[in-house]
Amino acid sequence: MSNRRPLIAGNWKMNGLTKDGLALAGEIATRLNKVASPNCDVLVCPPMTLVAAIAQKAEGSKLSVGAQDCHMNETGAHTGDTSPVMIKDAGCEYVILGHSERRTDHKETNEVVKAKASAAIKAGLKAIICIGETEAERDANKTIDVCASQIKGSVPAESTAENTVIAYEPVWAIGTGRTPTTADVQEVHAEVRKALTEVIGAEAAKTRILYGGSVKPTNASEFMPLPDVDGALVGGASLKADDFWGIVDSCI
Ligand code: 13P
Repeated sequence: MSNRRPLIAGNWKMNGLTKDGLALAGEIATRLNKVASPNCDVLVCPPMTLVAAIAQKAEGSKLSVGAQDCHMNETGAHTGDTSPVMIKDAGCEYVILGHSERRTDHKETNEVVKAKASAAIKAGLKAIICIGETEAERDANKTIDVCASQIKGSVPAESTAENTVIAYEPVWAIGTGRTPTTADVQEVHAEVRKALTEVIGAEAAKTRILYGGSVKPTNASEFMPLPDVDGALVGGASLKADDFWGIVDSCI
């Protein structure tokens, strides 16, 4: 884990209504505040309908709040979209970009992800840029090439260790209960860091690279100590306080 401060991030995806969402975020904030000096950052990324209320609830706590996507423009005629400036204004510190579900459902390309990341950084947000291979790409031994080209295509030149986080999420591991081996994860993370060095130079050594895909309290302690793994992006297990806390606990 080197000297990079780990980040445990919960991606709630399209889950959570007001009452339960506020209760979940409140429970995580309460547990986190009981830890005098946590050794990691903790983030929840609720659906857009809840970010403002949860950011308000988390204000003054150690819990950070983020969104799951943003538009690449600051304002304008983009019905249904949310700008990074609005997300910052709602109290968010982070935004997830280029998640595989957005790359698939909304046909987001590396170029789109890069433009969104630039806009997010300009608005003062930290961009969590997601990459990862499909099962077919892994079977064809293309994992490293795919991840390297996603890094080179999606990470803007102005990214730094301060304003950018990378999340490696093998598409076939998302929501499936399947994970790569720890050796595979370490290998990919090290290669991703190399590709990142080609884009942002020495900042890459300080930039956090999270692992995501079926992270659970039962396997987090295997992945978190790997030298190039700097935290986790958690889907399903971030929807229950005990499960998410179990993962935070492996870093704290
Ligand atoms: P799961 O943890 O449910 O596999 O989801 C991972 C993910 O997509 C987080 O962004």
